[in-house]
Amino acid sequence: MNIPASSTAASACPVDHRALSEARSPTGCPVSHRAAAFDPFEDAYQQDPPEYVRWAREEEPVFFSPKLGYWVVTRYDDIKAVFRDNLTFSPSIALEKITPTSEEANAVLASYNYAMNRTLVNEDEPAHMARRRVLMEPFTPEALKHHEPMVRELARAYVDRFIDDGKADLVDQMLWEVPLTVALHFLGVPEEDMDMLRQYSIAHTVNTWGRPRPEEQLKVAHAVGNFWQLAGKILDKMRQDPSGPGWMKYGIRKQAEYPEVVTDSYLHSMMMAGIVAAHETTANATANALKLLLQHPTAWREICEDPSLIPNAVEECLRHNGSVPAWRRLATKDVQIGGIDIPAGSKLLIVMASANHDQRHFDDADMLDIRRANSSDHLTFGYGAHQCMGKNLARMEMQIFLEELTRRLPHMRLCEQSFTYVPNTSFRGPEHLLVEWDPAQNPERANPALLESVSPVRIGEPSGHAISRTVVVDSIEPLTSEIMRLRLVAPDGRPMPRWLPGSHIDVECGTPELSRQYSLCGDPADPATLEIAVLHEPEGRGGSRWIHQALKPGDRLKIRGPRNHFRFDETAKKVIFIAGGIGITPIIAMARRARELGIDYALHYSGRSRATMAYLDELSKLHGDRLHVHAGDEGRRNDFSALLRSPEAGTHIYACGPLRMLEALEQCCASWPEDALRIEHFESSRGTLDPAKEHAFEVELKDSGITVTVPAGQTLLDALRGANIDVQSDCGEGLCGSCEVRVLAGKIDHRDVVLTRSEREANNKMMACCSRAAGSKLTLEL
Ligand code: HEM
Repeated sequence: MNIPASSTAASACPVDHRALSEARSPTGCPVSHRAAAFDPFEDAYQQDPPEYVRWAREEEPVFFSPKLGYWVVTRYDDIKAVFRDNLTFSPSIALEKITPTSEEANAVLASYNYAMNRTLVNEDEPAHMARRRVLMEPFTPEALKHHEPMVRELARAYVDRFIDDGKADLVDQMLWEVPLTVALHFLGVPEEDMDMLRQYSIAHTVNTWGRPRPEEQLKVAHAVGNFWQLAGKILDKMRQDPSGPGWMKYGIRKQAEYPEVVTDSYLHSMMMAGIVAAHETTANATANALKLLLQHPTAWREICEDPSLIPNAVEECLRHNGSVPAWRRLATKDVQIGGIDIPAGSKLLIVMASANHDQRHFDDADMLDIRRANSSDHLTFGYGAHQCMGKNLARMEMQIFLEELTRRLPHMRLCEQSFTYVPNTSFRGPEHLLVEWDPAQNPERANPALLESVSPVRIGEPSGHAISRTVVVDSIEPLTSEIMRLRLVAPDGRPMPRWLPGSHIDVECGTPELSRQYSLCGDPADPATLEIAVLHEPEGRGGSRWIHQALKPGDRLKIRGPRNHFRFDETAKKVIFIAGGIGITPIIAMARRARELGIDYALHYSGRSRATMAYLDELSKLHGDRLHVHAGDEGRRNDFSALLRSPEAGTHIYACGPLRMLEALEQCCASWPEDALRIEHFESSRGTLDPAKEHAFEVELKDSGITVTVPAGQTLLDALRGANIDVQSDCGEGLCGSCEVRVLAGKIDHRDVVLTRSEREANNKMMACCSRAAGSKLTLEL
């Protein structure tokens, strides 16, 4: 916290003045000792940036660093707000030398006519967006698909070279060269002088984000000057024939159409910066990810056993240990960040690695959780108008590298080593990554077919909700002659994912093609167990038959979730729970919660006979006379029209059971407020798209600064993804709420079953997978 110089009265100041140094910020405030000591070129920052600034994230989230001459921002919300507003926070200093160099070094650079200028990442509006729009196409998921075979082939060929050696330096022997080769392919640059390009790239990184010692500066300047000249030569050669694939060639072709947008200076600067952006970031990110995963053997084992976990593991590694820990912005006017005054002209170091470990946004932020539902909220790729254009190429590469290595070298482990990093603020990855294994145990020796298997790459952002987990059947117990209770635990005794009343899991019933959804009916406070109850349905698709007949205690099962489409509103004044038959399962946890919260509630439970009704004893013990049992054979059917005769404001009705019962309830609730009746939906056709009945509309994306057209035959979600905008999604039917986006303007045509009527009427959020614009345009906070 920077304290105004005038606020010296100890009683008014929350900061211990003994913690203040002599240094002052540009606003005249004293600077704390820790802020004064902050030095991102120290090894401690390189080794673990989020840990290095933990104190700041917790106590002094925005501070001035006298050593750097920058204001440092460390919390998630503040950093996202900075990224979101690229007019107030200009990116123009992103490629500026962070450490001013000597006259002599500057003269060396000048001797090479070095003139690195605006690319994309450091270009202001409106020039930036005009250029980004013109140059975007090769980065779209559609265009990126074509690179997948090349990336895979390269990854395989490099692993072939060392697989029988029993040890490797993954950085030197794979992770540097493969991303460099991919980058050159992507850019359309011939693969020549790879070693030289590696040295040049490092020099560029040191020149821009490092603190070269005076004696190093000349060497760096020569390398950077040479890199600049080489970039010019490559460009000249490309200009002779810009046909064929490659982003830089595409840029040259676009220059003919838009000479003011794609300028000569841009092309030359981008040729150099692009090689680094496309390569070093990804090489470092993969090395960081592998180091992290091998340091967490359980996570490593899980992705070896189940490659479908890899896309989210990649995202979690980018969050936990990303390759671009910090980025820069310039304040163009007086502004406040996190309540601290920042004068116009201030330079900001925004530490995304710290944001990614911010407890306010990520639960157990320091924990590596490869199933984390919001991993992809990380800010490692930046956010908003300048968000990394190459993110999906990087994700694809990282998935393929992990897939090849987990499949072919699952027994790989880290060697004893200390990790070294090139000191700089923004490009971070270990210089070496030594691993070892026993080649005699290479799985492909026993099973050569393994070499042929390939897991599909997920282009774009993964959805944490969609990933599976293996559980063990701890116990199976009959509750009635047709219903069994299953208790599921983690194979390694670790806690199960948290869940709330109304949640369900998807259970894979013997084969990945047959999956059934079951509500969780245990106690959400029990961290070790998930409980479901399964009714044997002989006429069903076979899922319940498999569970009843084939499953035994000790067996392993694959589940997805928990997910919650049937959320319990804890603010209700009064609740009526209505369950029919096996529909009691989601109601059990809700009723328990209502009881805990002291809500006035009644639980109506119907069935053919008491003998067919699961959980009766437990429910009656817990709920006493709030439980009303309607057993058909006792002639005590639930009379809904009597029960729901008079609508009561503030009363919610939660119902689950056979379709006929739910339809009857809907009729009886016709005169109730629309949101009063809440029903569990497992499928919905409300969002099914019929292009003949739809109209196209436009969405303006406020944070990204672009407008996307959604044709009549396409969902908003698909149109956003096609434009490289990250939006999570899971069910694709408007059931689960994971693709919710915020709406700033325009009338929404809601087609989901998640939002309540009042939420719809508020007109400020929508489900991108199914809902559309009622008119011709929407403005979204994306
Ligand atoms: C911009 C990170 C891979 C091309 C950026 C930015 C970051 C970043 C932090 C600035 C974002 C902002 O200012 O909001 C990363 C990371 C990568 C990666 C962590 C790998 C894990 C790539 C790849 C390419 C690429 C593979 C090219 C093929 C770009 C471009 C921009 C950019 C062109 C400028 C976008 C603009 O300003 O409009 N990247 N990047 N990046 N990146 Fe990446």
